[in-house]
Amino acid sequence: MTFDDTFDRVTTRSSKWTGMEAYFGLAGDDLLPMWVADMDFRPPTFLTDAVHALADAGDYGYFSHTDSYLEAVAWWTKTRHRWDIEPGWIIPTASLGNAIAFAIQTWSKPGQGVAIFTPVYHEFANKIRKNKRLITELPLSTEDGRFTLDFDRYDALMCGTEKILLLCSPHNPGGRVWTAQELRAIADFAERHDLLLVSDEVHNDLILPGFRHVPTALAAPEVAPRLVTMTSASKTFSIAGTRLGAVIIGDEPLRAQFTDTVRQADLHPNLLGVTLSRAAFSPAGAAWVDALMLYLADNYTVFRDGMGQIPGALVHHLEGTYLAWVDFSATGMTDAELWARVTGTARVVPSPGPDFGTGGSGGLRFNLGTQRARIDAAVGRLTQAFADLQ
Ligand SMILES: Cc1ncc(COP(=O)(O)O)c(C=O)c1O
Repeated sequence: MTFDDTFDRVTTRSSKWTGMEAYFGLAGDDLLPMWVADMDFRPPTFLTDAVHALADAGDYGYFSHTDSYLEAVAWWTKTRHRWDIEPGWIIPTASLGNAIAFAIQTWSKPGQGVAIFTPVYHEFANKIRKNKRLITELPLSTEDGRFTLDFDRYDALMCGTEKILLLCSPHNPGGRVWTAQELRAIADFAERHDLLLVSDEVHNDLILPGFRHVPTALAAPEVAPRLVTMTSASKTFSIAGTRLGAVIIGDEPLRAQFTDTVRQADLHPNLLGVTLSRAAFSPAGAAWVDALMLYLADNYTVFRDGMGQIPGALVHHLEGTYLAWVDFSATGMTDAELWARVTGTARVVPSPGPDFGTGGSGGLRFNLGTQRARIDAAVGRLTQAFADLQ
C-alpha cells in the first residue's frame, strides 16, 4: 500500500465523504471534503490482519484482552513519547470525546466554568455547553503565522467560577506543537487559578519533521496532582470509528474520581477498539507513522506553496496534526463570503473557522490527510476561486 492509493470512502459511508449535506447543506459528487479529522488512506496491513485474526477466531463474547491493550499504550507512550507510565494509570473510555465529557462531569458542576483557548477543537465548547457548564475563552494571538499564548491577557479574563482548563496539545486547529516552556506556562496558569488541567494529546503522534511533542506530564511534572492526560490511536491510525480512548492519570486520588464516573456509566472498552489499538501501538505501527509523517509533510509543503499565492491568505506553519489553518482575514471577506467562495466556487469543504470559537473568525481549517492528487486538486480549485484578488 502507498499513501497515494485511492480509497473510495463514499461506499464505506464515512462521515467525511457522506455527511456534508446533513452538516452543511452541501450536496454534489464534485465536492472535495477537507473537514472531519480523519484520513483517506487505506488501512495498513497490520490493522487489516488484526481484524482478520479476530474474525478467524470468531469469538465476539465478553473478553479479557484489556490488559494487553493497556500494556501496548504504556509501551507506545514510553517508546514514542519518552514518558514512562504504569498500565494501571490508564482508564479506557469510549473515544476521547467521551473522555472529555466525563472529565467535565467529574471535576465541575453545572454553572461552573471551563477555560479553553480559542480557536480550539470545536467539540470542547460543545461538550462544555451540553453539560451546562460555562465557557471562558482565552484568545490565542498570531505571531509570524503561528498561534501563541498571551498570558498577559488571560488572568483578567477569568471569572472565578472555572474549575478546569481544557488544553489541546498539539493544537487543533493551527497545528502548534507547544514547547516545554509554553506547557510550563500553561501549567503555572492552572496552578495560579487552581484548575484541573486536562491535556488532550490525541494528535501527539502526528508531528512534522523538526518538531517534538512533549507530554505535559514531562514538561511540568509538578502539576501531576491536577493533571489528566488523554490519548488514543484514533487520529494517528484513522480508527475513530472503533471508539476507544485512553485517559492517563498518575495521581491516585484523581484516578479514583475518574474511575468512579466511568463505573457509574458502566462503561467497558469494546473488542474491536481494543484489537485495533493494540495492533496500532506496535513496532509496525511506529514504522507506518514515521512514513505517514513524511508524506503529510510533503502534502503540507504543496498546500502551503499553492495557497500562499492567494493575496491575503496566511497559511499557518504546520508543526503537528494534518490540519492546516489558513487565515483569510487580510482578504477583508466576511466568514459568509469566504465560505460561499470556498464551498460554492471551489467546491472544497474545509471546517469553518467560527466553529472553533470566537478566535476562529476569518480562518478555515483544511484536512491534509489525503492523497497528494487531492491536495493538488484542492489547491488548483482554490487558487482559481480567488484568482480575481491577484
Ligand atoms: C483534540 C481532539 N480531541 C478529541 C477528538 C475526538 O477524538 P475521538 O474520535 O476519540 O472522540 C478530536 C477529533 O478530531 C480532536 O481533534
